[in-house]
Amino acid sequence: MPSPLENIFPVFNEILGRTEKENLLNQRGKVVWLTGLSGAGKTTLAKHLERALFDKGFLTQVLDGDNIRTGINNNLGFSDTDRFENIRRIAEISKLFVNCGVITINCFISPTEDIREMARQIIGKDDFIEVYVNAPLKTCEERDVKGLYSRARRGEIKEFTGITSPFETPENIDIEIRTDLQSVEDSVEQLLQVILPRIQCG
Ligand code: ADX
Repeated sequence: MPSPLENIFPVFNEILGRTEKENLLNQRGKVVWLTGLSGAGKTTLAKHLERALFDKGFLTQVLDGDNIRTGINNNLGFSDTDRFENIRRIAEISKLFVNCGVITINCFISPTEDIREMARQIIGKDDFIEVYVNAPLKTCEERDVKGLYSRARRGEIKEFTGITSPFETPENIDIEIRTDLQSVEDSVEQLLQVILPRIQCG
């Protein structure tokens, strides 16, 4: 079987480079990867973080599980294999943004160390800022913003993270945010302290 890459000729070195684009934007491209249970607050934090960064003059792009899964990943479900493929594609897309000097803020459960490690490998560890958005399962279940936990408990959703599918505590994080213990404003401040030094030029 010939390799699918046999007749493919990437031109990475010939197109306009990342540094030039970063200089144009006066920022460094990075991926802020928010991992955590459904309902932990990833999307809420991402929205507020994006606004805070925008107000400081940074160009960002939020990539969110529910959005991406209705578009480019609409052929994927929640088996281990599909979650891997979901995150693989997201990581590749994020890399394109980073190479354009843009900061992506990614909201994906990304439930296992293997999955998060794959994303880190694809993006490159220097460009990967891992944030554990942590609220206890009990809290996420009480919030049940989308009504999914009660449906999962009733057996109506299979392989639901935290109920019938695992979530492994992240071990290689840059920062943990406890959304059950602190306000959104405090959380964004805490995130900015970690992120700003890594996205500022000069
Ligand atoms: S991941 O595990 O592959 O990283 P992703 O973040 O893209 O998941 O999607 C999670 C979102 O899909 C949840 O916020 C929830 O709204 C929805 N969802 C639907 N079914 C499931 C399920 N079985 N497990 C987790 N989330 C689910």
